[in-house]
Amino acid sequence: MLRDSFGRVIDYLRVSVTDRCNFRCIYCMPEEGYPVAPKDELLTFEEIVRIVHIAADLGMSKIRLTGGEPLVRRDLPNLIERIASHPGIEDISLTTNAHLLQQLARPLRDAGLHRVNISLDTLDPDKFLQIARRGSLSKVLEGIEAAKESGLSPIKINCVLMKGVNDDEVADFARWTVREELHVRFIEVMPIRWNLDETEPFESLSALHGGRGLFQLRIQKDEGMLSDAQMRRMVIPFTAAKEAIEKELGPMTPHQIPTNGPAHTYKLNHALGTVGFISQVSWDLCERCNRLRLTADGQLRPCLMADGEVDLRTPLRTGSSDEDIRAIFEHVVAHKPERHYLAEGQKVQGRTMSQIGG
Ligand code: 5AD
Ligand code: SF4
Repeated sequence: MLRDSFGRVIDYLRVSVTDRCNFRCIYCMPEEGYPVAPKDELLTFEEIVRIVHIAADLGMSKIRLTGGEPLVRRDLPNLIERIASHPGIEDISLTTNAHLLQQLARPLRDAGLHRVNISLDTLDPDKFLQIARRGSLSKVLEGIEAAKESGLSPIKINCVLMKGVNDDEVADFARWTVREELHVRFIEVMPIRWNLDETEPFESLSALHGGRGLFQLRIQKDEGMLSDAQMRRMVIPFTAAKEAIEKELGPMTPHQIPTNGPAHTYKLNHALGTVGFISQVSWDLCERCNRLRLTADGQLRPCLMADGEVDLRTPLRTGSSDEDIRAIFEHVVAHKPERHYLAEGQKVQGRTMSQIGG
């Protein structure tokens, strides 16, 4: 079992399988996307499986595949099947925007995938296009339906909350959990683009809701995505979101489900699903952090919010033994920071969210 220097058990590995994405969410990427890693820098399936199985030997029994968008990587069911073949792997999950899920849900489930987290920030088709800038809401909803039909469970819906953009929809998302066994998780928008600020030029590309409320959505001209300062102003305190839901739909009671993760979760009266809140910036989740991240290009990271990472790809390609790889895992765990310092102004400069895997 891996235990870090602050006593946390590290049993969860998030594996990014690609830095590509078929969407361009305004808080994640510019319209034209980021340059993607050349193919020979990406870990092959053989390399990923080897790393994941060594991690499983060390007690990392929970695996999540992420991206970019993991479903754009070809043959993903094949990777899942090979990962699942290790008896130490207890839970395999996937974070996806669901655009390709309709055709893939069944093969993924058959390959050994247990469950999915689906990113969806709005239930309005026009707003969907303004936030994701690619794809369509109906495809995502079909993907969710296919996930249910193929027995992936529990199904979580990750909704990044942004003031003036989708905060008027919190009750609609919550209402969904009454009639369907879905678990909505409202995620605080994270100001991860520290290198941007509002002193740079702007161009008004789209004003969601015609500029309703305090914030008119303006996309930074040069960068084509929300700036750090905009994201900071869009943060909605979890208490405010909870109150808005309760005002419309009645009181919620605390309610945990297995695989709960870092969310604070509740249930509406007679609901089949649950509503949860994940506040990465304002709440310190670090105390219970149990994870490491493997990037698509083979770097092992102890923390999403700090730049430190150790290269696994080179040792893997230069004949390192399993013992050497195990030693790298132990080294990274030993250097896992106690917490992030976002509130104190820490900057993450090395990589973007889609390059780390969210
Ligand atoms: N703040 C919060 N969540 C984000 N994601 C990507 N960028 C951000 C951000 N700046 C989320 C996506 C998805 C997951 C992969 O990461 O919405 O749910
Ligand atoms: Fe793609 Fe996810 Fe980034 Fe949206 S948030 S652009 S779906 S990687």
